[in-house]
Amino acid sequence: MHLRSYLQQLLPKNTDTKPASEPMFAPTNIALIKYWGKRDIELQLPTHSSLSVTLPGWGTTTEIALNQGRHDFILNNKIITPDDKQYLRLVDFLELVKPAAKIFYKVTSTSQVPIAAGLASSASGFAALVLALNDLHNWNLSLTELSIIARIGSGSACRSFWPGFVIWQTGIRDDGLDSYGVPLTDKWPGLCLGILTHEVSTKKISSRNAMINCAATSPLFKQWVQQAEVDLINIQTNIMQKYFGKFGEIIENNAHAMHACMAASIPAIIYSDAITENNLFAIKQLRKDGIEIYATQDAGANVKCVFMKSDAPKIQKVFPNIQIIELF
Ligand code: PMV
Repeated sequence: MHLRSYLQQLLPKNTDTKPASEPMFAPTNIALIKYWGKRDIELQLPTHSSLSVTLPGWGTTTEIALNQGRHDFILNNKIITPDDKQYLRLVDFLELVKPAAKIFYKVTSTSQVPIAAGLASSASGFAALVLALNDLHNWNLSLTELSIIARIGSGSACRSFWPGFVIWQTGIRDDGLDSYGVPLTDKWPGLCLGILTHEVSTKKISSRNAMINCAATSPLFKQWVQQAEVDLINIQTNIMQKYFGKFGEIIENNAHAMHACMAASIPAIIYSDAITENNLFAIKQLRKDGIEIYATQDAGANVKCVFMKSDAPKIQKVFPNIQIIELF
């Protein structure tokens, strides 16, 4: 089925469209067990389930107004021009979801998340866009339905509709209607995420293309998927039991396995640079000194890490510029 017809069958018809939406906020999320591989490229269905944690208060606020004759995008007070990669991605998505051919939008967003630097800007961006469309067109959809729609824009966006830990279940249906975010009820007071941002320029290869090339050429891809499935089961046990050491080990190994799988692709996909390696080394060193801190890394050079709040002062001494987010 054509993607537009697929989405249109999920969207309510003949609702009252307002001239403009309210500003809608969606937080970003960081995957602890990564999504890396698509079983259906067009429907953005993953090869395996993933698990993320939402960063409270860190994300994108988007407002949409009806526009005359074309789509316009303003991000952080700057116009996104048609030669920008993001422009095409946004237009493609809006053309799939808009209720009628004559409808055009002016989308105004502000985001504290550096764009396309492996800090999950597209997750909060597409989630906020879908929330604003829901408000503009009075769709009145549930968060689960919005999660399915946002998944088409950016896979990881489907996890950005809930706080805390969220699983994106891969689902078993070919039409992907069971592939969406599901929040866990477990909370973990004191759990922190640290962000070590050293690279804010746009990544050289998009996660979408990298994922497709990796699945097609990496001899490690099959093992990566099997490992991610095991990691997802084990991390849930450790979240329930609040066993931080094992939880952190699973997260760090999962990120390393994903990057190893990428490195074995032809041509090799490598997002790390020298500062990434230094930061990963410093995290290992902190552990040797008895501080429980574990790293993760997405499709970008920046390192993120997890630790408990009680260790924050010692960690800040080693990483004075770290941004610390308390997750619960
Ligand atoms: O949703 P995308 O296309 O931005 O891909 C996200 C990929 C990773 O950030 C590497 C992993 C994840 O699960 O978020």
